[in-house]
Amino acid sequence: MIKLKGITFGYDGKPLLFDSLDFFLPEAGRVGIIGPNGCGKTTLFNIIMGFVKPASGIIEISGRVIKGERDFQKVREKIGFLFQNSDDQLFCPSVREEVAFGPLNYRLPREEVEKRIKESLEIIGLKGFEERAPYHLSEGEKKKLALATILAMKPKILLLDEPTNGLDDSGLKSVVEILNDSNLTIVVISQDINFLKDTTKVIYTIDRGKLKEINLHSYQ
Ligand SMILES: Nc1ncnc2c1ncn2[C@@H]1O[C@H](COP(=O)(O)OP(=O)(O)OP(=O)(O)O)[C@@H](O)[C@H]1O
Ligand SMILES: [Mg+2]
Repeated sequence: MIKLKGITFGYDGKPLLFDSLDFFLPEAGRVGIIGPNGCGKTTLFNIIMGFVKPASGIIEISGRVIKGERDFQKVREKIGFLFQNSDDQLFCPSVREEVAFGPLNYRLPREEVEKRIKESLEIIGLKGFEERAPYHLSEGEKKKLALATILAMKPKILLLDEPTNGLDDSGLKSVVEILNDSNLTIVVISQDINFLKDTTKVIYTIDRGKLKEINLHSYQ
């Protein structure tokens, strides 16, 4: 469950991006966010993750108010956060190590880590890429790998910033299936209205500092 109440925020010296913004997403809920470049979509994720601090407002995750850095550290363990730019997410010398990093950090047994590497690479269509260098993957392959690293962590909540950018048809189909087959709590940012229609129940845009539900009948 994610709840934001009265979030107000603007970057230094710039007009407010959010003005008393409210948001509520129950457990296992799925929402999409679409909107023009620079309207604040990524910033909203950064606020939920605690990377950016709002001037005022309350953040509640799974029923707990999240305040200090310690609270946010715990929250981050529950959230699978996909960066808009895959290069911000990938840092290991091989695909295998990249996917293993999170599960190893959780001190999972080697056997379980191997299982998760196999499963997450297979489901996203990167089987056989284990020894490749992430740095030399194509843009779409990097996006798939970034998704695999998140899936391998088995998070309760997914915050996905443009998960389908650069994906081919089969990649897109895999992501739609993964999201629709899960009962996770999901917020997904995308410029692809059809993808959002296929994967989420409610779609918002950011309008005058607040989230506003889109009327799908009037949206082209
Ligand atoms: N660290 C920062 N310092 C100052 N301004 C910033 C910072 N990060 C983002 N901005 C500005 O805040 C606004 C919102 O940025 P944000 O990245 O949240 O937009 P977005 O909706 O995700 O856009 P896009 O569709 O291009 O990804 C933009 O005008 C951006 O230039
Ligand atoms: Mg963005």
